Amino acid sequence: MRRLWDKGVDTNQQVLKFTVGEDFRLDERLVQYDVQASQAHARMLASCGHITQFEADSLCEALSEIQEKHSRGEWHITLEEEDCHTSLELRLMEMLGDLGGKIHLGRSRNDQVLVALRLYLRTFCLELRAIARDVSDGLRQLSAKQGDLPIPGYTHMQRAMPSSVALWAEGFAAEIVQSLHSLTTAEQFLSLNPLGSAAGYGVGSLKLDRDHTTSALGFKESQEPVTSVQLSRGKAEAALAFAAVLIMQDLGRLSSDLCLFATQELALVKLPDAFTTGSSIMPQKRNPDVFELVRGHSAQAIAELNAILLITTKMPSGYHRDLQLLKAPLFRLIDQTLDCLEIMSLAIPEIVFDVKQAGELMSSELFAAGKAYELVQEKGISFREAYRIVAEDFK
Ligand code: ARG
Repeated sequence: MRRLWDKGVDTNQQVLKFTVGEDFRLDERLVQYDVQASQAHARMLASCGHITQFEADSLCEALSEIQEKHSRGEWHITLEEEDCHTSLELRLMEMLGDLGGKIHLGRSRNDQVLVALRLYLRTFCLELRAIARDVSDGLRQLSAKQGDLPIPGYTHMQRAMPSSVALWAEGFAAEIVQSLHSLTTAEQFLSLNPLGSAAGYGVGSLKLDRDHTTSALGFKESQEPVTSVQLSRGKAEAALAFAAVLIMQDLGRLSSDLCLFATQELALVKLPDAFTTGSSIMPQKRNPDVFELVRGHSAQAIAELNAILLITTKMPSGYHRDLQLLKAPLFRLIDQTLDCLEIMSLAIPEIVFDVKQAGELMSSELFAAGKAYELVQEKGISFREAYRIVAEDFK
């Protein structure tokens, strides 16, 4: 198959395989967004008089048909096609002949990939917010069921102060919602329209209406100046990855608590049977694999954020092929975060705290600071003096 930029020189198959890497597989998830952006671009070209209204309609219809077939699994991007952008354009040309070749006026794959990514990432932000709230709601549900149950609060993994299921569960519920606030920075980057910056330096004397695609695609503004566009690639990714990392850390610490609470030594919670696994050798085992993996993924998440940040570090301005490598860690992180949130949203409402064991764990030392407070209030002595009096009981 002839590639668009083919100048008649035989491309070494090995170089093609190397330069495309995973891109043709990763871009599968961008197809629908590239279609959406291409339709907006075609309509904009018509509004500027570069193509006729009829041509824009034909391009949009063909793109919709290509998209429908893709969503039915009737075609996939091939290695030869490199990425979703080339694949779509080749398919348009197959269907419409020369008209298919008109769609690329005033754009480059460099701004095309950014617009498709931004549309995709905007959807991901909404999904992330919704499912993170499900987890948070699950924790509140647990709190509504068993919230009044006193449990020990630990510092340094030592019994510290009296706590409760409500305090434990609602602490995590609140933090998950707080972590979501960090998505706002990502959404700010995602609100700018890269289309029209083309390869990174605009389109010279060609007349385009960037604001047309900005409003059609729901962006807030056209990204200016054009040279900022390629400098911004990786930033929405990093901001989003950071938000995902914070959420994953909440889930990882929650999981760590649950693994600890479920030991025979503490026996404070019973993990739902369906969310534990057995052992191939020890018939009695109910292992908290789900929660261990969530904890593991919370560490992996930081590795993905790191990869994202490192790819653009020290890179000169303008487009470079290294940028393509941003997709793999980003998509892995997105998938893992959604998977972890989903499994946790299912598991959490099923968790049961053991009432009898909780009672046994509520030993007297947990009330030591409380006793000192009482002495201060009853006797009007200083906290330090009250502390010393209570400390006598623990010598
Ligand atoms: N797959 C490429 C990427 O993700 C698309 C842009 C290719 N542009 C280029 N000039 N080779 O970056």
